[in-house]
Amino acid sequence: MGDLRFDGRVVVVTGAGAGLGRAYALLFGSRGAKVVVNDLGGGRHGDGKSSSAADAVVEEIKRNGGTAVADYNSVVDGEKVIKTALDNFGRVDVLINNAGILRDKSFARISDQDWDLVHAVHLKGSFKTTQAAFPIFKKQGYGRIIMTSSNSGLYGNFGQANYSAAKMGLVGLASTIAIEGAKNNIHCNVIVPTAASRLTEDILPPDLYAELKPELIAPVVAYLCHESCTENGSIIESAAGWAGKCQIIRSNGSLLRTKITDGVSVENVRDKWQKVTSMSNAEHLDSIQEATGALMTSLDSLRSGEVKDEEVDVYNFTQ
Ligand code: NAI
Repeated sequence: MGDLRFDGRVVVVTGAGAGLGRAYALLFGSRGAKVVVNDLGGGRHGDGKSSSAADAVVEEIKRNGGTAVADYNSVVDGEKVIKTALDNFGRVDVLINNAGILRDKSFARISDQDWDLVHAVHLKGSFKTTQAAFPIFKKQGYGRIIMTSSNSGLYGNFGQANYSAAKMGLVGLASTIAIEGAKNNIHCNVIVPTAASRLTEDILPPDLYAELKPELIAPVVAYLCHESCTENGSIIESAAGWAGKCQIIRSNGSLLRTKITDGVSVENVRDKWQKVTSMSNAEHLDSIQEATGALMTSLDSLRSGEVKDEEVDVYNFTQ
């Protein structure tokens, strides 16, 4: 099998002036893509701006023989970022939503500004860039989108409630875009990286920090964005030269009543709680239809007459 190339493709990478975004931009540039290196060039907390971060990465791509242009807009003005791609290269094929800031505070101390700024860059910014690119992807019957989430979103992390909420919001956004884009060959996946960068330099232990090179994650993101990759709507975690897929799983659950005419008491819930929360036969559901279907099956079994008490415990909704 040959090398995976991006010749003729135009790739927009947001927040590409440093860290992970820089590594993505350099890799795409080395594989034949024309790259829009977007970066506001501000501080870690969303303060200030400068053209130097994006310019340095554009220079690096050009020095290596690649093609790139800088864009200094905030992702909050997503349509301007996409316009830079169209004005310079006439098309856009891949959008990597990577720009990010942190404003860490314990939950009780988060100000409206800490909340709003983090949501603006991560969630609103990804919405704006993607909404600007989406009609173009639709028209050409091809598009690849990456959203950047975080383990802080998936699992929570002390001091990052604002960031966690925005990062989990991106999972929801990606899940629906993946469904709406599928018939036009538009794929949207989520990357959950862990990498050494200015966002993590004072968070990660020093020995781990040295092993977490952004260059080890970039190939995973590039593969997800290749035309030959069929992955869509997935959450892919990657770090230190490793990658794996994350899914939300649900327990088998338990019926809380035995007859359709019965109500459910608080005590019924207490008595079945161990079964409700037992993850021993947990499984992943592929769609909202599957989740609703499972509920219908449980209703049908109640309607069709009787569910014996012992069956309540072992009933598998999805069969
Ligand atoms: P970084 O700080 O090195 O890079 C982020 C870049 O985004 C910066 O160059 C910054 O100037 C740019 N940026 C910030 N606000 C912007 C805006 N409004 N418009 C355009 N550009 C903007 O950070 P890093 O670590 O490379 O992070 C990249 C992404 O990965 C972020 O979304 C971050 O939340 C996410 N992430 C990183 C992890 C890590 O371990 N480094 C862990 C989980 C998620």
